[in-house]
Amino acid sequence: MVKASKRCETRPASGIRKMSVMAAGYTNVLNLGLGEPDFNIGGNIAEALKKAVDAGKNKYTPTAGIPELRAAVARKLKRENGIDCDADSILITHGASEAIQTGILGTTDVGDEVLLPDPSWPNYQGQAHMAGCKIAFYPLLEKDGFHARAEQIEKHITPKTRLLVLNSPSNPTGGVTTKKELLEIAELVKKHNLAVISDEPYEKLLYGGAEHVSIGSLPGMQDYVFTANTCSKTYAMTGLRVGYLQGPKDTMTKIVKIQEGSSSCVNAPAQWAAIEAFEGSQSYVSEMLAQYTARRDLLLGGLNSLPGVTCLAPEGAFYAFPNVSNLGKSQQVAEDWLKRAQVVTIPGSAFGEAGEGFVRVCFAVSEATLKETLTRLGSIFQELPAK
Ligand SMILES: Cc1ncc(COP(=O)(O)O)c(C=O)c1O
Repeated sequence: MVKASKRCETRPASGIRKMSVMAAGYTNVLNLGLGEPDFNIGGNIAEALKKAVDAGKNKYTPTAGIPELRAAVARKLKRENGIDCDADSILITHGASEAIQTGILGTTDVGDEVLLPDPSWPNYQGQAHMAGCKIAFYPLLEKDGFHARAEQIEKHITPKTRLLVLNSPSNPTGGVTTKKELLEIAELVKKHNLAVISDEPYEKLLYGGAEHVSIGSLPGMQDYVFTANTCSKTYAMTGLRVGYLQGPKDTMTKIVKIQEGSSSCVNAPAQWAAIEAFEGSQSYVSEMLAQYTARRDLLLGGLNSLPGVTCLAPEGAFYAFPNVSNLGKSQQVAEDWLKRAQVVTIPGSAFGEAGEGFVRVCFAVSEATLKETLTRLGSIFQELPAK
């Protein structure tokens, strides 16, 4: 039998998957493990998708994406993010996942070091690994509200560091890095001549007055920053697989070649639907945000009332990241909650060493599910600890 490559064999496995596999052994499970909106796509987006299919827009598109969508993304970046860029500097991708993978492949060579947040979305590690890069981490600390901080990043920069990955609002912590903090990081980026991938899928899911700032909009940063984003979270379009990567034009022109070989182009009707997502009515986005806000408040109050658990208020995304270190190791706590309450959460250790002591609880589930979760968790704290 043909063996898988070393590259595949050694790709780090995701701890998120491990909990899903364990959960499959239980019934009546409440799954707060998956990071996926529980809403369907907006009616206007579904209409645009159907219209494109009916109009026969089902063929290959230009590799970088249809010009209409690239222009719509350029307008969106200017209008919402303050990034003034040409459509030519944008690659339409299969979600943020492919934007990041392509961005890493396009800015690093084998052996270069990539600096990742810890804790962070586990796929960054797999993506850097696939590109043959060495991986280093900078911590997001609870005492800093899980914000990215220049002083923490600088400690981990070496002469080999080529690329810095930022993710705000953050998965898994819900932290939102401020403009002041990003300005300090921007200085560091220029000083060390780093490429930056700024992964911003949760940019519109903000709570309690938190503000999203794209580092690509800061003075002088257009030469360094690749902004990765997606329709997945904001528009509940996870399965349509549309995202983008925007960066310095000369580099982007070359990066397009990576997509040419891997997939030729993104699904054509989904690209037309994405134009509607960016340029059509945004009222559906506000409605979803209102629901996420109510759920976040409900979950936050409930988690903080559990003995020994403390949780910072998530400023963005749809994750709470409670500190459960008083209860044991995060893997053990997540397994205990699964066994005794059939509640699926993800151990913080699945997101990196600095995630130890926390669990990720996703609130992209109904209020009824959250209430039942809190009732079940509350009741296990009344019982004797599991043996
Ligand atoms: C931080 C982060 N980046 C990227 C992605 C990938 O999103 P997409 O569905 O657009 O590939 C996710 C998905 O969970 C995420 O949480």
